Amino acid sequence: METAAVIMTTRPPPPAFYDDLDASLETAWQLWGRGTVDRHSAFHAPVVASVDADGNPQARTMILRAVDRDQRTMRFHTDVRSAKIGQWQGTARVCILGYDASKKIQLRVNGHVTLHTTDTVADDAWNNSRPESRVAYSVKIAPGSVVDMPTATPQPNGEGRENFAVVIVNIDSLEWIYLSAEGNRRALFAWQDGALKSIWLQP
Ligand SMILES: Cc1cc2nc3c(=O)[nH]c(=O)nc-3n(C[C@H](O)[C@H](O)[C@H](O)COP(=O)(O)O)c2cc1C
Repeated sequence: METAAVIMTTRPPPPAFYDDLDASLETAWQLWGRGTVDRHSAFHAPVVASVDADGNPQARTMILRAVDRDQRTMRFHTDVRSAKIGQWQGTARVCILGYDASKKIQLRVNGHVTLHTTDTVADDAWNNSRPESRVAYSVKIAPGSVVDMPTATPQPNGEGRENFAVVIVNIDSLEWIYLSAEGNRRALFAWQDGALKSIWLQP
């Protein structure tokens, strides 16, 4: 008589944030923060999506430069000559999306943009940026221009400040998704007049 082999599988315990809204939000902040300092982080270069003047969706990868948890802001840098700047005058709404496949966590932020081009916010960010990072802004041809052939990257020359802009995203809500064989977890954190509302959503 053959004996059926019984394979025992033990799943690791769920992470501490699994059934905990506060811990899920805490983890989300930590992941965005990590994205600002670790270029290997999945949240270092999220997709920033918006809608243009014709109602067409537009999405682009952008490097996350800073996160301010108290102010609930995220900071990005861009070129004032890029198409998105024309779309982001006033208080344009954006959606920021990142997914870490190794952690099985998706973070989606909805917020509105404040642009800084000539003030001290932009000056400080420019002065604190690395020379290699400033190079793109010194290129004389505006990004997105039709060219016969893209030019080589110039050497750092200190120029380009007038083309540099800081994008501050003021976070209105953050959606969390954690994928698990035990059952996925999805939560929404939304701030109204500064007050946080945390709720679970059916994944
Ligand atoms: C890895 C990566 C990082 C990028 N980082 C930025 C960035 O920090 N800021 C930016 O304006 N564009 C960045 N870009 C380029 C944008 O994705 C996009 O092509 C460009 O900004 C033009 O977008 P627009 O036409 O919507 O203005 C990055 C692209 C890649 C592939």
